[in-house]
Amino acid sequence: MTGPRPGRLLDRVVVVTGAARGQGAAEARALAREGARVVATDVSEAPGCRRLDVTSETDWAELAAELRQTYGQVHGLVNNAGITWRARLGDVRPEDMARVHAVNVTGPLLGLQHLAPLMPPGSSIVNVGSSAALTAHYPVAYTTSKWALRGLSKTAALELGPRGIRVNTIHPGYIETEMTASAAPAFREANVRETPLGRTGTVDEVAPLVVFLLSDESSFVTGTEIAVDGGLTAHGGVKSVSDAVREE
Ligand code: NAI
Repeated sequence: MTGPRPGRLLDRVVVVTGAARGQGAAEARALAREGARVVATDVSEAPGCRRLDVTSETDWAELAAELRQTYGQVHGLVNNAGITWRARLGDVRPEDMARVHAVNVTGPLLGLQHLAPLMPPGSSIVNVGSSAALTAHYPVAYTTSKWALRGLSKTAALELGPRGIRVNTIHPGYIETEMTASAAPAFREANVRETPLGRTGTVDEVAPLVVFLLSDESSFVTGTEIAVDGGLTAHGGVKSVSDAVREE
């Protein structure tokens, strides 16, 4: 007998931050398609999204209390919310550093602290890093925050492993969202030039990786990092050299 494939995340309660648009919205949709009870959250108002500012301890505490009462458990967390700030080394101000790090690093930390106590063994957390976390990406506040998030992920994988909770990081390359739409056209063109697949990525090419990492299919995968970037970070900057000397 054939029928619809049972969802890989049937009845799992999964919280996604920054789910009002872009990658977070796509992740929420993909997780729901696999049967998860998705708690989509965002700092901005959006249909189907619960308001949660990831930098607010009060917001996280309220969400945790609500989830404890409604479901008793939480099985997944996608720390997706993030902001950028494109000031270079000479121009970035301490307040820029603080603001970006509050959202991109302290936000995920608070999510871990408030939701991990509700997680049974087999739960999974995905932190959304960036190709900036693997390279010398020029917007220094963003880059340092994403490198810091890698450290947080590794530590969290170590701390939560004994409880059977997995923590992994994904590193998207250039993905078409409002975040990247706000950058200069030259930024997009240069990224495409440096990407072996020769194009930008879409939110629907990132979401399946998040589904995989939240599902039992990745049950022995923790503390690791997976790039979803069309090869951008794989070549270490030598693509332009290879292209320059390639025989036509
Ligand atoms: P986006 O700007 O389209 O969406 C980000 C969402 O996060 C927005 O809905 C925004 O309201 C929300 N948000 C911002 N501050 C928040 C806060 N304090 N609390 C709760 N929500 C907040 O960005 P996109 O592209 O969807 O980015 C998602 C994640 O992917 C971010 O962590 C970003 O750094 C990362 N990323 C994006 C790349 C890209 O090319 N678009 C590349 C690499 C990483």
